[in-house]
Amino acid sequence: MLYAHITGWGMAVPETVLTNADLEKMVETSDEWIRERTGIVERRIAREGEYPADLATSAALQALQMANLSPADLELVICATSSPEHLFPATACLVQDRIGAVKAGAFDLSAACSGFIYAVQMAAQSIRTGALKNALVIGTENLSRFVNWNDRNTCILFGDGAGAFVLQASERPGGVLSAVLRSDGSGANLLSVPAGGSRFPASNETVHSGQHFIHMDGREVFRFATRVMAQSTREALQVAGLKVEDIHLIIPHQANYRIIEAAARGLKLPLEKFMVNVNRYGNTSTASIPIAVCEAVQDGRLNPGDKIVLVGFGAGLTWGALAAEWTGPLPAERRVNVRSFVWLARLRSLYRRLIRFIEGLLWGRREV
Ligand code: COA
Repeated sequence: MLYAHITGWGMAVPETVLTNADLEKMVETSDEWIRERTGIVERRIAREGEYPADLATSAALQALQMANLSPADLELVICATSSPEHLFPATACLVQDRIGAVKAGAFDLSAACSGFIYAVQMAAQSIRTGALKNALVIGTENLSRFVNWNDRNTCILFGDGAGAFVLQASERPGGVLSAVLRSDGSGANLLSVPAGGSRFPASNETVHSGQHFIHMDGREVFRFATRVMAQSTREALQVAGLKVEDIHLIIPHQANYRIIEAAARGLKLPLEKFMVNVNRYGNTSTASIPIAVCEAVQDGRLNPGDKIVLVGFGAGLTWGALAAEWTGPLPAERRVNVRSFVWLARLRSLYRRLIRFIEGLLWGRREV
């Protein structure tokens, strides 16, 4: 029997910090209000020229190095994102090219802030069936580019960043133990970027009426989130045959400190059982859970053998929880230097573009 283990992890956040004090200069708000209502103190914002695939590549390379896995051995790259670089091609394909994952299929997964949990479960399912051995799952966001910086209801909440997991097959029991994935499209209007898709393609009208920004009914999303966090955690634990007491650490989606407090109350667990870093990054959507996992490992709060739950919610509406036994890198015979593959990947990518260009000239078609 095959198990899907989390064997590598990595994160990347932009250097630029936007504090509550900075926001006080932009909209009518206060540091006190933001801290009290959300727990957020600061968030990271991508600089000009820094995009989701850049952050994703950086997080992915760290995760691969941690797992001691060559990008050429990956068979699948899933990028969960709510702010892809384009409608298509998938941001996952841009990352696949940059890291040199030459044998991997790549696609984006759209389930808003629950996307990382959905993506880990998709990769784990593929591994457990024996369809593949090595997968890379990324959550990456530049939500700051969809935020209306004049709307105090939303601009205080979101930040940019990326996190990644490597999942690998092993006959050793452990890894991803269970997952519950849920949705309720009747709440689709509660959190959305209304325009830019095929229903409301970009036009002067959509731009001027702010339809390309994040729109949110904060109170309704809050009520929904507090309801589903504890409930889905319990469901995932039940499927895994675990009790709440068995859990070492819960890593929730970092949207609002009060939502995490409500989940703790719902599960009758102390807050110490929850990883919280929303104060430093705000809501980074699909990236929030893997970033929190990376910092939990760094802080020594997550060790091999620990039972954990990842739990999140988001637009859609979507929500989900995933129970896992933490593994860490699998034993390896040789040390892989992942960075050296990046140079090869760049050369390979340039070479392929060049060949396409020359073929275009030869066959009368210019394609770069
Ligand atoms: N600064 C100061 N006042 C603000 C404000 C801000 N940044 N944003 C809203 N307010 C005001 C409101 O206008 C409202 O004023 P009013 O009573 O005069 O209308 C008042 O504060 C209370 O607003 P309310 O929406 O009830 O606040 P809240 O306690 O629900 O907190 C959120 C607002 C957005 C922080 C909270 O609802 C929330 O976190 N919701 C979930 C959002 C989320 O997680 N989204 C992502 C999901 S993945």
